[in-house]
Amino acid sequence: MILITGGTGYIGSHTAIALSNAGSKAVILDNFSNSNFTVLSRISRICGAQQIFVKGDVRDAARLTSIFDQFPITAVIHFAGLKSVGESVQQPLEYYDNNVLGTAKVLETMRRANVKTFIFSSSATVYGNPRNVPIKENYPLSATNPYGRSKLIVENILTDFYQSSPDWNIAVLRYFNPVGAHESGLIGEDPKGVPNNLLPYISQVAIGLRSKLTIFGSDYPTIDGTGVRDYIHVMDLAEGHVAALNYFNKKQGFITANLGTGHGYSVLEMVKAFEAASSRKIPYEFAERRRGDVAECWSDPTFAREILGWKASRKIEKMCTDSWHWQLQNLKGFK
Ligand code: WQD
Repeated sequence: MILITGGTGYIGSHTAIALSNAGSKAVILDNFSNSNFTVLSRISRICGAQQIFVKGDVRDAARLTSIFDQFPITAVIHFAGLKSVGESVQQPLEYYDNNVLGTAKVLETMRRANVKTFIFSSSATVYGNPRNVPIKENYPLSATNPYGRSKLIVENILTDFYQSSPDWNIAVLRYFNPVGAHESGLIGEDPKGVPNNLLPYISQVAIGLRSKLTIFGSDYPTIDGTGVRDYIHVMDLAEGHVAALNYFNKKQGFITANLGTGHGYSVLEMVKAFEAASSRKIPYEFAERRRGDVAECWSDPTFAREILGWKASRKIEKMCTDSWHWQLQNLKGFK
């Protein structure tokens, strides 16, 4: 069985579906700090099977240990953590406690339970301000905020730990910009408060929850002056985790892979694509660049394709259509 920490979160919930589609059984652990109990019943409806769920925090060693005592866990996919760049600047200690110490607790519990396959939810944010694109896994790493630094610290912990325990299977998966939703529209991205990220914000403008989109920067050296990112459908991303588990069924070791499409779209291109998908106008205005933003960031996903046999297949139209379908069916998210 696969333990999914943070399994009722945006990417965790979609990964639970992908695992079920692949015939794997999962145990979901979540403390609902950034997700909703309703997600469990939605996952069950999509999978056609009741999910095994444990409410708890990854920093609670006793709770973690009880899961390994109770279930035949063979691998862990670790999503549980905080993920807002802006919030991390305001509350760095919470980010290091949740993201770094939380991960250390999971690894320690796995070690005691002799479970040696660990998949880590990392982020393209560890590339900092990339010197050029597309980005390869061996590009220089740096952090520009506590969230990114917490991911980088965990990657370094994993490297050090693997040196001491080379019989483990460790995958570091660096996500680019996850967007979209499961095609059923039953689960999707449900940010708390004002969305930081582009797609949920656009979606809330389309549904009339927000009056207009503010585009941060129109003077970047890009195709149309707005920021360019590698948006990847969350189900493609989820399937990348299944591919990593399958890899460890055949090989052992430590792998780091970009999970992106290898293609960048600008903010204005995303606006246009979402207008086509929703048949709604997205009013916008330009504003100053957002602190910490980079002009362009997109992946070279060759390594993931060669090593994991995984390639993102869902295009921008599907990303926007599935996002809109979720939003239409859930005007107030999971509430
Ligand atoms: C995308 C583009 C903005 C909102 C962040 C995190 C990263 C990862 C993914 C966790 C940029 C522009 C956005 C808006 C805008 N999260 N934008 N108006 O910043 O690439 O990545 O989310 O792992 O760690 O840094 O994503 O969606 O915030 O921004 O113009 O209201 O949209 O300037 O060009 P980002 P984003």
